[in-house]
Amino acid sequence: MTRSQVQDADREAVAQFIERHWRSRVVMSRGRVFHPHEEEGILERRDDEIAGLLTYRIDDEGLEILTLNSVLEGQGIGSSLMLDAIEEARRRKCHRIWLTTTNDNLRVIGFYQRLGFRMVAINLGVVDEARKVKPQIPEVGYRGIPIHDEVVMDLQIQPYL
Ligand SMILES: CC(C)(COP(=O)(O)OP(=O)(O)OC[C@H]1O[C@@H](n2cnc3c(N)ncnc32)[C@H](O)[C@@H]1OP(=O)(O)O)[C@@H](O)C(=O)NCCC(=O)NCCS
Repeated sequence: MTRSQVQDADREAVAQFIERHWRSRVVMSRGRVFHPHEEEGILERRDDEIAGLLTYRIDDEGLEILTLNSVLEGQGIGSSLMLDAIEEARRRKCHRIWLTTTNDNLRVIGFYQRLGFRMVAINLGVVDEARKVKPQIPEVGYRGIPIHDEVVMDLQIQPYL
């Protein structure tokens, strides 16, 4: 098992991983389009294969997690990638780490809350709008729940001095 920051040499493999898990190389958050493989990221490799990936970007609003995926669920990969991202946000002087997810992803909403995140907004209909730009976004998600809205979750943090 190895953990590393995404390097330029990883970008094509990261793009393919994103495409496999998000049906396209593009992801959307609050109506904006992002290409996660071009952004910063933390990679977990097992036997040379990508077992987990967290991509993020940093701006004045803090560290935004763009994608989080674990291929080997239930082994702590997702949680430990999140803890690394929180550490990185502190090192980079961010006061906030945040993300958006969709209204159907109830399990992950619980997962983020256990890490201390709060639900700070629900952007009604934003996923329906995003689907016009990215038609690969499914109409129906986990457990048959129709996908319409975006849930914004954030964690306020103390940056390192
Ligand atoms: C969310 C995700 C990254 C978690 O990764 P993971 O490697 O399973 O994470 P962990 O092993 O640290 O487990 C996280 C929690 O999920 C639980 N869990 C793991 N696999 C599970 C499963 N198949 N069913 C139910 N719960 C499960 C664990 O018990 C753990 O709960 P805890 O916080 O009470 O300990 C992973 O499930 C995933 O890739 N999901 C699909 C993509 C996604 O929705 N990403 C988030 C987009 S915003």
